[in-house]
This record gives sequence, structure tokens and C-alpha cells, in this order.
Amino acid sequence: MTHELPKAELHCHIEGAASPGLVVEQAAHYGTDVSAFIDGDRFVWHDFTSFLAAYDTASSLFRTEEDYARLAESYLASIAAQGAIYSEIFVSPDHAADAGLSPLAYVAGLGEGIARARAKHAIECRMIVIGVRHLGAEAVERAARFAASGPHPLVTGFGMAGDERIGRLDAFADAFSLARQAGLGITVHAGELAGAESVRDALDHIAPSRIGHGVRAVEDFALVERLAETTTVLEVCPGSNVALGIAADFASHPLAELVAAGVPVTLNSDDPPYFDTSLGHEYAMAAQAMGFDDAALRRMTRTAIEAAFVDEQTRGELL
Ligand code: ADE
Ligand code: ZN
Repeated sequence: MTHELPKAELHCHIEGAASPGLVVEQAAHYGTDVSAFIDGDRFVWHDFTSFLAAYDTASSLFRTEEDYARLAESYLASIAAQGAIYSEIFVSPDHAADAGLSPLAYVAGLGEGIARARAKHAIECRMIVIGVRHLGAEAVERAARFAASGPHPLVTGFGMAGDERIGRLDAFADAFSLARQAGLGITVHAGELAGAESVRDALDHIAPSRIGHGVRAVEDFALVERLAETTTVLEVCPGSNVALGIAADFASHPLAELVAAGVPVTLNSDDPPYFDTSLGHEYAMAAQAMGFDDAALRRMTRTAIEAAFVDEQTRGELL
């Protein structure tokens, strides 16, 4: 029973964690029609582009500090009930700006929600500011400068999401180096929508301690060996990969192959309601469909805590 296992995640987009019910409430509050992309209790989309469109529209319905506080608190409460002790959420100042909220108010609101969840549910959380790749290098650098400015004590990392097929990774190297110089942890999405060469580019140009997804490294075994040798931690999101067609199903997902090759891996939900998943479901499917036993799942939780962008005291308390 994976329900009892302690769980930790490193890869969840907070805008993508808003449940359809919460988005419908926001839509009613702001007088917006969301029937084009919410049907009952499901988000409706059919490919990465329409997923992003639904995601961006849902995000635009979170407009105030309190909206974001509620979003963070409700999400963290939901995973604490599934056994989560730690979560890192990707936060996107570009999405907040589109909704008319300043980046500082945005992280203040999320920080308030995190504090409420910690008090009520004993779950720890940190924020990773992300730039959106398809908005271009200038926008990603702006997000990095914001992250590096010390906007909130719980902002401890910088990363990049968005459409990985757009732009060359070296164009974003300056953004990552200024975030790194500010002492932030570094992660980048690679090897999800694009193949092994994208993971190699991430190692060559960014040298992150963690890679978001990274699973398409299995297209090149020498690269898998390089991930293992450099102990680059993968933030693996099997349910997301299945929903987006990157893997056919859980049973044939490359997670087991990566583990066998010695790559450090963690389990994550990415944008859980969009992909019909949750952190608890990822652990359950890793057990049921992929054959991982409790000890292997506990190791993944431990890997996540060891790779988390937290101070050593917090890490020690979580381990
Ligand atoms: N932003 C939100 N979810 C994402 C995903 N799965 N890949 C890239 N960018 C994202
Ligand atoms: Zn992601």
C-alpha cells in the first residue's frame, strides 16, 4: 500500500495544480466562461499546444495574492493527505503578470498559502521561479533576475519550462548563470518534448543538478551513463508522459530502465489534474504497473529530499 509511504516531489507547476473545481470557482468569481476547456471535473485538451492554451487560460483566473494563497494551500493540503512531506512548486511570474499581479505580490501570496499549509498539514514547500522558454531569452532572463533578487525566503531555485522545441538552449545560458551566482538551485526541462540531444544540450550548456523529465535520454545509452556518472537527478513525471504521448503507458515507461542504469530519479506529478494524476497516483502506479517495491519508492523519496533546494537543517529534518 503506497498510501502509507512518505512522498516528496520536486516538479509541480503551481498553475497546473489548480483543480477544475477551483478554476470553475475562480471563473464564477471573475465572470469568465471556461466551458471550452473544462467539462465537469476534467480539463479538456488534445495535444501540448491545446494543453498550454487551457493552462494559460486557467492561470489567468488567479489574479490576487489571496487567489494564489488559496491555490497553494489547497494543493499542498491535497498532497499532504496522500502522504507528501515535501513539495517544490514551479512558480511563473510571467503568468502572474499576464493576470495583472506583480511578481512580488505573486510570491508573497504563494508564500502565505505555503505557511498556512505548513501550519495545518505539516508539509514543507519551496518555490522555484521558472522562465517560459517559448517567450524567449529576454523574458527568461527577466525571470532569472527576479529570482536572483531575493523576492521571498522560500524562493530557492530557478528553472525553465515551456516548449522545449523552441530556441537553442545556449541562448538561455546567461539567465541560468546569473541565477546560479545568486545561490539558487538549478533545474531545466529537457528530454520531454525533444529527444536525447536536448538532454545533452542541458548538460553541456547549463550543467544543472536536476533535469525536469529527462526521460528521452534513454534514446542514447551513453547519455544515460553520463547522467548516472554526473549524478544528475531526474524529475520524472510518468503520468504526464503518458498523457502527452511520450510514453505509451505506465508499464512501458522508461523509469525502470533509468533506475537500472543508476540514474537518480524522483517521482512527480507535473500538472496533476490536466494529466489525470496526483503525487499519490504516481507512487501507486510505480508500484502496480512498474513493479517498484516499497524500498525502491522510499529511495525515490529520499533522492528527492537529498536533491531538494533547501537549507541543510530542513533537509536533515525531512530525511
Ligand atoms: N509547463 C507546464 N507543464 C509543462 C510541461 N509538461 N512541459 C513543459 N512546460 C510545461
Ligand atoms: Zn514540468
